[in-house]
Amino acid sequence: MSPENTRVAIIGAGPAGLLLSWALRDAGIDSIVVENRSQEYVLARIRAGVLEQSAVETLTRLGLGDRLAAEGLEHDGIYLQFAGERHNIDFNTLIGRTVTVYGQQEVVKDLIKAHTDAGSTIYYEAADVAVHDVESTSPRVTFRHDGEAHEITADFIVGADGFHGVCRASIPPKAITLYDRSYPFAWLGILADVPPSTDELIYALHEDGFAMHSMRSPQVSRLYLQVDTADSIDQWPDERIWEELQTRLGVPGWTLHEGAVTDKSITPMRSFVASRLSYGNLFLTGDAGHIVPPTGAKGLNSAIADVVLLGAALVGHYAGDDAPLAGYGEAALRRQWKVQQFSQSMTEMLHRNPGDLQSAAFDYRSQLGRLDYLTGSLLAQRELAEQYTGLPF
Ligand code: FAD
Ligand code: PHB
Repeated sequence: MSPENTRVAIIGAGPAGLLLSWALRDAGIDSIVVENRSQEYVLARIRAGVLEQSAVETLTRLGLGDRLAAEGLEHDGIYLQFAGERHNIDFNTLIGRTVTVYGQQEVVKDLIKAHTDAGSTIYYEAADVAVHDVESTSPRVTFRHDGEAHEITADFIVGADGFHGVCRASIPPKAITLYDRSYPFAWLGILADVPPSTDELIYALHEDGFAMHSMRSPQVSRLYLQVDTADSIDQWPDERIWEELQTRLGVPGWTLHEGAVTDKSITPMRSFVASRLSYGNLFLTGDAGHIVPPTGAKGLNSAIADVVLLGAALVGHYAGDDAPLAGYGEAALRRQWKVQQFSQSMTEMLHRNPGDLQSAAFDYRSQLGRLDYLTGSLLAQRELAEQYTGLPF
């Protein structure tokens, strides 16, 4: 057994855990990160791609903005496509704000490099991670690493361990309510070695279902298709994926360029919020406390927003002011519920409802009506722009 002590023990080396540890280091507060996967696995995980303007500002302020500034693709807006027509929504013209396309993988890569250069303590491949005594003033984390038992005692434990982590599960069921809803469709996502066929992201509602064209760099495209929740990846050979993308994204006079598929996965769609983000001296951030369907591009941005709030609250605590820490959960959830309604409404606006034929036909026409209204109303576009580019942190 090797007993260790730190101020903040962080479970999970995803974007939330790594960024919190980095923000605390910046403020002179020690932390240790405990992750159950390998560093290679964490670096290779392909997920979100769009950063809100405030997320870019946060990463830049914390000294993580060099590669982001050089390689991130700043976008003024998005395209919404329906009924065979493509409409540009220009956030920059509407409200003077933008978003930046920069993969979550790149954010994680920058964070891991910064931590490695700074000599931070991050345990990868930790087994049997468990948290104890979170109601006391000296909560503990135990785990096994390289065959040895470890114990870390801290002032606080932060659960940044994602939806399936151990921290939320350690809150007594009687003390927490879990609000969630699943959707009757999933996303098939591919990464392809082909320059993007568009300058900004395309979100398309087609009679056959949702499709989206995103990107990772001037050489790499990221594309998504609405598929059935029961579909498996072997039902979707590359030719079928491209054919379906051509159908759902196609408009006259535009070409979708195809390329070698280098990654392919299916993700279920779910909305989830825990009723509390703190319990004793345990705090939850990011996917450990809430998840959104990806249509609004809010998962990663919400994790960053939590970390900004919690990081400032912990800095406040060590400077003698406990009010922000006491208010963290409420403040983060208040913002999160606004993000939830946006993600849900984008999802419902852009996906085909696979319900019974009569209501599915009605819903589709009603969705077209909503998109027609949106693309014809500057007021509605400003509302979309404000939410898509991000509410204040
Ligand atoms: P995570 O990134 O999940 O990180 C949690 C970390 O904790 C992981 O490294 C995990 O290995 C570790 N961990 C888990 N359990 C334990 C344990 N017991 N002990 C120690 N460590 C543990 N959002 C979008 O906006 N757009 C997208 O396209 C998109 N695609 C996604 C695809 C998938 C498959 C998933 C799962 C999510 C996707 N998201 C997307 C959501 C977005 O990626 C997340 O919101 C974001 O990763 C949240 O960051 P996080 O650090 O809170 O959690
Ligand atoms: C992505 O590029 O992976 C991406 C972009 C926007 C979304 C979801 C995913 O809404």
